[in-house]
Amino acid sequence: MADSAELRVGDQTINLPIIEGSEGERGLDISKLRSQTGLITLDPGYGNTGSCQSAITFIDGEKGILRYRGIPIEQLAEKSTFLEVAYLLIHGKLPTQAELEEYVGSITLHTMLHEDFRSFFGALPKDAHPMAACSAAVGALSTFYPDSLDPSDERQLEISIHRLIAKMPNMAACAYKHSIGQPLIYPRNDLSYAANFMHMMFATPCEHYEVDPVIEKVLDLLLILHADHEQNCSTSTVRLVGSSMVNLFASVSAGINALWGRSHGGANQEVIEMLARIRDEGITTKQFVDRAKAGDDNARLMGFGHRVYKNFDPRMKIIKKACFDVLEKLGVRTKLLEIAVELEEIALKDDYFVERKLYPNVDFYSGVIYNAIGTPANMFTAIFALGRLPGWIAQWSEMHDDPAFKIGRPRQIYTGETMSDYVPIEKR
Ligand code: CMC
Repeated sequence: MADSAELRVGDQTINLPIIEGSEGERGLDISKLRSQTGLITLDPGYGNTGSCQSAITFIDGEKGILRYRGIPIEQLAEKSTFLEVAYLLIHGKLPTQAELEEYVGSITLHTMLHEDFRSFFGALPKDAHPMAACSAAVGALSTFYPDSLDPSDERQLEISIHRLIAKMPNMAACAYKHSIGQPLIYPRNDLSYAANFMHMMFATPCEHYEVDPVIEKVLDLLLILHADHEQNCSTSTVRLVGSSMVNLFASVSAGINALWGRSHGGANQEVIEMLARIRDEGITTKQFVDRAKAGDDNARLMGFGHRVYKNFDPRMKIIKKACFDVLEKLGVRTKLLEIAVELEEIALKDDYFVERKLYPNVDFYSGVIYNAIGTPANMFTAIFALGRLPGWIAQWSEMHDDPAFKIGRPRQIYTGETMSDYVPIEKR
């Protein structure tokens, strides 16, 4: 197969090298295009732009394949744990037993927040969205830990990473507790990562709280499934912000904001709100689908469609199964699940969705699970952020280690006014 492509611009012909990845994906290297021809490329939404070479996550959107470091998501979902997956993503290989114990031990040592975070959360309005609170809290970590901010110092970076993974569940739970006016709960280091989060969310100082193992397991599974997804909007944000050599906390804080949007992670909250609307307004799922097809932005079928997957999202398949299992084990019956199943069935047979290859994505069923385990809708995206953390960290670190690393700085085609003179105010 050709290893370069020819581009003819006027009477000039240049060769563009073709880069091939380990799974056969091919891309044109245009890094010298501007210096050779004066041209840049234009690709709104970056649908055809590879921003980096990465060895972390592989997706084949046509076949519905997702692998972290080569390992299929189905195997990780069945056999691994979230912290093991975090290690895999960040360190590039599965840990040995001793490595995993040391890793989990170190992260567990960092679960407590600085006590001044109490007044930090206390200063936020009660109705602050948890994503805003989490982004602010992660950004604030750089004020609490100025000793570990240098991105080029390996030891400082390791401490930052462990602090961030350890403290994020605590910060997310604090955001929730503050919003409902309950005391912030200290972590319990005898609990697993997922169980500790549930404990900080739902325990109170007045009563003993036991984490249901069914809930602990499904939450860990959901975190694994969200752990990385290559160059999505929030990950690209983390990389771009980090490329200025700012610290990890500041970069991840920006990523949390990017994830919040309803086209990205915010969709999981929107899905449950959409299902509740259908239930409460008494409209049929068919009527709702028809509105979505008519391009009614208020009736976009949330949890459907994906820039990369033009087939079933493999995460969605796992989550759908988990959803049925958990609801059965917990003995929960919910109208929302019935509506979701109906919506999915109608949309998958509808020409509009078939032609556009719109399939349910990771967010379609996850909210039904979060809802069934008692999590309020505005916390769904914060749990997504908790899961995505290792991916952001792994991608941020990979970028800094890349020999081709430089600050991210896209160009533009200027379409504004050409040179025009300043007009004094009295003459306008
Ligand atoms: N409902 C109705 N129509 C849709 C939907 C939808 N959910 N998604 C895409 N379309 C239509 C869209 O209107 C367009 O139609 P046309 O060609 O007639 O103009 C066509 O399908 C292509 O869509 P697009 O918006 O150009 O695709 P995109 O790759 O730019 O956007 C998306 C992808 C995920 C933003 C979009 O599908 C969407 O808004 N989905 C709903 C929100 C959602 O579930 N987001 C979570 C994504 S997965 C998790 C994550 O990334 O965090």
